[in-house]
Amino acid sequence: MVIISVIVAEDLVKTFGEFVAVDGISFMVEEGEVFGFLGPNGAGKTTAMKMIQCVSPKTSGKLEVFGMDVNTHQSEIKRFLGIVPQETNLDPDFSVYENMMVYSRYFDIGRTDARKVTDELLDFVQLDEKKNVNIEQLSGGMKRRLILARALINSPRLLILDEPTVGLDPQARHLIWDKLRSLRDKNVTIVLTTHYLDEAAQLCNKLVIMDHGRILEEGSPQEIVKNNIGTDIVEVENGPEVKVCLDDMTADYEIIGDIVQVYTDDPQQVTSHLLRECMLGKITARTATLEDVFLKLTGRKLRE
Ligand SMILES: Nc1ncnc2c1ncn2[C@@H]1O[C@H](COP(=O)(O)OP(=O)(O)OP(=O)(O)O)[C@@H](O)[C@H]1O
Ligand SMILES: [Mg+2]
Repeated sequence: MVIISVIVAEDLVKTFGEFVAVDGISFMVEEGEVFGFLGPNGAGKTTAMKMIQCVSPKTSGKLEVFGMDVNTHQSEIKRFLGIVPQETNLDPDFSVYENMMVYSRYFDIGRTDARKVTDELLDFVQLDEKKNVNIEQLSGGMKRRLILARALINSPRLLILDEPTVGLDPQARHLIWDKLRSLRDKNVTIVLTTHYLDEAAQLCNKLVIMDHGRILEEGSPQEIVKNNIGTDIVEVENGPEVKVCLDDMTADYEIIGDIVQVYTDDPQQVTSHLLRECMLGKITARTATLEDVFLKLTGRKLRE
C-alpha cells in the first residue's frame, strides 16, 4: 500500500505581531487518517487549522497540503477541502436549502448537481425535514449538522472540523461520529479539534496534544496514555502516611487536593502495598484515560 501524505508541517510558525501563536510544530497526516489536535483554550489549534485551510498565511516553516504550499496554492488546495469552522457561520437570511445552494457556487457545482447533492447531504445529517426552514429556527445542534452537510458539498478529500460536536446532545454527537466514521471508510482524511477527550479517543487514530503553540505529545490515543501514565490509576485519599508509603515503593504519583493519584501498569501491586503498609481511607483503581494525560501534561489551572 502506498502511503500518501495529505499534510506535512515542519517547524511551522504563526505570529500575530510579537505574539507567537504556533511555535514551530511538525506533524504529518496521512490519507485516510483521523488526526486530532487537542489542547487547552488558546493552545493554537484553530490557528494551525486556519493555516491548513489556507485562510491565514503561515509566518514561517513548511506547510504542504496534498503536496502544495499553502501560501502559494490556496485555490488549488481549497478545492479539496471541506471546512467545519469553530464559529457557526451560516447565512441567517437564508433557508437550510438556500445555504447549501449558495455554498455550492463557490465550487462551481451546476444547479442540477447541487440540488441532488444537497438532498443527499440533508438526508445524511437527518435535516431533510428542515429543508425550507430559516436558519434562525434551527436549534444549535441542527446548525452544527447543517455546517457538516455544507462542508461535504464538494466531496472533499480532506475534512477539517474545529470542535464539530460542541454543545450537541449525545444523540447528535453519536450521529456525527457515525458520519465521520463512514467518511473515513471512504478514505476521506479528517483533521479535527475537540475538548471532549472521549470523542478524541474514539475517533482519532493519531493525535497531538498542544499547549502554548507547541506540540507536547504525539501518537495514537492508546500510545499516549500508555507512555505518560500506564494502564491504570489508583486513587487514594490523601494523608501523611500515604506519601511515605508511596515513596517507599518509588511510585509515580501526583497529589490533587484531597486525593493522590498513582500512575501504574500494575494496579494490584500498588493497591496491595497500600493496604498492607499504611492506614488508608478509600482506595479505588480505574483505567487511565486521555483526559488524565491531558491534565498531567497541560496542568489543572484554568486558561485566561
Ligand atoms: N487574529 C489574531 N490576532 C491576534 N491573536 C490571535 C489571533 N487569532 C488567535 N490569536 C491568539 O493565538 C492564540 C491561539 O488561539 P487559537 O484560536 O489558535 O486557540 P485554540 O487552541 O483554538 O483555543 P480554543 O480551544 O479556545 O478554541 C490565542 O492566544 C489567541 O488569542
Ligand atoms: Mg479554537
